[in-house]
Amino acid sequence: MFTPISLSRVSGEAVEALLDDAFGLDRHQRTAYLLRQAMPVIDHLSFGMMLNDNLVGSIQCWPVAIGKAPLILVGPVAVASNRQNVGIGKMLMHHMLKAKRALDAPMVIIGDPEYYGRFGFDSVATQGWILPGPWEPRRLLLRNPENHPLPSHADLGPDPQPRNSPFI
Ligand SMILES: CC(C)(COP(=O)(O)OP(=O)(O)OC[C@H]1O[C@@H](n2cnc3c(N)ncnc32)[C@H](O)[C@@H]1OP(=O)(O)O)[C@@H](O)C(=O)NCCC(=O)NCCS
Repeated sequence: MFTPISLSRVSGEAVEALLDDAFGLDRHQRTAYLLRQAMPVIDHLSFGMMLNDNLVGSIQCWPVAIGKAPLILVGPVAVASNRQNVGIGKMLMHHMLKAKRALDAPMVIIGDPEYYGRFGFDSVATQGWILPGPWEPRRLLLRNPENHPLPSHADLGPDPQPRNSPFI
């Protein structure tokens, strides 16, 4: 049976091994890593998916900002390569969205719109945003159901004041 647990209860080594498996060993070059550099993970939105004591999936969320507005960077979302396409990614995303608090900021992810569109993410409002590394504009996706006002042209990067943010 699949059981989601707080990622704080999972060993760092197990999470790193899962990420290497899902994304490959060159994953640290990805622009998403620059976006969340030196940021603390958001505990209440980060989970591991367990199957018989084995970690088979994980989701992590981080405080970032677009201009001065706080956002939550979702990802990496990772599923063990031998367990993909059986619903674990969807379970992790739904579990994380259910754990979202009323004051949490809107969410951003770099990922395939064909997958993350089903969770309410799209690239409409992100086309004027600037990232600290290469990115495909069609894969920069925002979920902002409350329509928080956000800048249309600004830099996306680590939140300079994550602990003071009213949204975390
Ligand atoms: C992408 C990922 C998180 C999806 O999780 P998963 O558990 O394998 O997928 P799920 O079982 O939740 O969903 C399967 C469905 O999504 C689709 N899907 C899976 N990955 C997809 C992708 N990258 N793009 C579009 N659709 C995708 C499948 O075709 C399937 O469609 P269906 O429901 O119509 O049959 C997982 O495959 C993974 O870790 N991949 C490697 C790392 C990665 O690319 N992570 C995402 C970037 S943060």
